[in-house]
Amino acid sequence: MKERLQKIKEEALARIKASQNPEALNDVRVSVLGKKGELTALLKSMKEVAPEERPAFGQLVNDTRAEIERVMEEAKKQMEQILLEMKLKTEVIDVTLPAKKNAIGHRHPNTIALEEVERIFIGMGYEVMEGPEVEYDLYNFEKLNIPANHPAKDEQDTFYINKEIVLRTQTSPVQARAMEKGKLPIRMISPGRVFRSDEVDATHSPSFHQIEGMVIDKNITFADLKGTLEEFARELFGAETKTKFRPHHFPFTEPSAEVDVSCFKCGGKGCRFCKGSGWIEILGCGMVHPHVLEMCGIDPKEYTGFAFGVGLERIALLKYEIDDMRLLYENDIRFLRQF
Ligand code: DAH
Repeated sequence: MKERLQKIKEEALARIKASQNPEALNDVRVSVLGKKGELTALLKSMKEVAPEERPAFGQLVNDTRAEIERVMEEAKKQMEQILLEMKLKTEVIDVTLPAKKNAIGHRHPNTIALEEVERIFIGMGYEVMEGPEVEYDLYNFEKLNIPANHPAKDEQDTFYINKEIVLRTQTSPVQARAMEKGKLPIRMISPGRVFRSDEVDATHSPSFHQIEGMVIDKNITFADLKGTLEEFARELFGAETKTKFRPHHFPFTEPSAEVDVSCFKCGGKGCRFCKGSGWIEILGCGMVHPHVLEMCGIDPKEYTGFAFGVGLERIALLKYEIDDMRLLYENDIRFLRQF
């Protein structure tokens, strides 16, 4: 029996030594120490040992088992160490590789232009107001002196939610909303999205943006309007910029004008950019119509005011010399990154 035990031990230790990987080690464990393993079998045949020698023999078997387990554990640790070293050698980290970059977006040319316009007017003491994109016909048309059958309603055909509610065609309804708040004087600009049922082309879109402006106070005259817009044009397009006020008609202003700026590309000589005229149209404006003031609860004998409306896309297209409005809506980052 003792010889058998000795043989099992020697063989087990030799197999452990020869093991190349954890699987081989595990095979040794199963075949020697396992339930059906050689050592277990040996214990089962204890009855062949003389009764007085059994305790000593049992002890010997246990010691042998402990010895094999210890050696096996050591071999396993060594194996793990070697595996780790091999792994470290093969998985070299190249710290000189460029890191992964997060793609950061870019401010839209409309946003850049709007922030510039806001900066200019905030600098002149204006506050920025917002109005709803889904608007009552009452504010979008009626209170701006455009009654139900007025032809101006045709020019600004829009999307109707129902008979009384429309997607606003202009930011001008914010004028009426500002006046109705009842706090005077008013000095505000109001940027936002507007809608018209237009076909998409290089200069039209069913949804675009405007910036409305309005001042209401005592003794406001057309001179204030001119001075304000001249200053605005110089700040936006450069100190050399000249302005021209052409008589025009808007239902909610009287008198009304359209404003051209001298072409900042050719300085007014005439070029491809200004279609040879030397001037570029940028906005509509006028003195707030007394009837509009009255409809919005302001006494036109005591207060006067001026208003203007600028197309934001128009400013962005001009400022960045973009020749197709559709580019502004495609959100192609290769385009946007240029500004
Ligand atoms: N709302 C006008 C439009 O969409 C633009 C405009 C013209 C606004 C004259 C004004 C103004 O405030 O005074 O065509």
